[in-house]
Amino acid sequence: MQLLKQKVLDEGIVLSNRVLKVDSFLNHQMDPVLMKEVGREFTRRFAGEAVNRVLTIESSGIAPGIMTALELEVPMIFARKQKSLTLRDDIFVEKVYSFTKQETNEITVAKKFIQPGDRVLIIDDFLANGEAAFGLARIVEQAGATVAGIGIVIEKAFQPGGRLLKEAGYRVESLVRVAALDDGKVTFADQD
Ligand code: G4P
Repeated sequence: MQLLKQKVLDEGIVLSNRVLKVDSFLNHQMDPVLMKEVGREFTRRFAGEAVNRVLTIESSGIAPGIMTALELEVPMIFARKQKSLTLRDDIFVEKVYSFTKQETNEITVAKKFIQPGDRVLIIDDFLANGEAAFGLARIVEQAGATVAGIGIVIEKAFQPGGRLLKEAGYRVESLVRVAALDDGKVTFADQD
């Protein structure tokens, strides 16, 4: 997605050879015009997948998630992150480990919002090791629903998440794939 690549080049800050800061349009300040295009692009890519729910995770997944759900005219659910929970039978719970933050969160979704037979499109802002996406997919499967696809705004292709998700059989569509963050520069993987 050319518009997004240009935004990454213009405003992305390479913090290290593993971390790209994009807080001017995705992770803190958000660019609604760009997010609208992101929603349109995911909708175009997943047309034909009969999606009837979008699932994302708080907080930065919510903007691309809601714009995609708006375009698809389906509800969006965001998984909540919590430190630790007392046992409850009305929620799905999965553990998600973040290598970036070196912490484990429990992510939760109320059972009433995902039903058996649903076709759920998972959307997230970043894909690194795939922990968040796998956690969301496990929640969809716990519900007896189907993962219709996984849409990622920025994939760090030098980390294994994309490959692992594809090997697990999921359809992954990343709008921008970053091949490397060396010498303070963003290099994109060949595509488009
Ligand atoms: P994973 O889910 O693919 O395994 O990724 P990881 O645990 O490494 O990511 C943990 C958090 O860090 C996620 O946000 C993810 O979006 C974010 N992240 C990972 N790599 C980068 C990066 O290079 N740049 C930026 N800006 N973020 C990155 P989160 O904790 O869920 O935060 P938020 O959604 O509340 O903002």
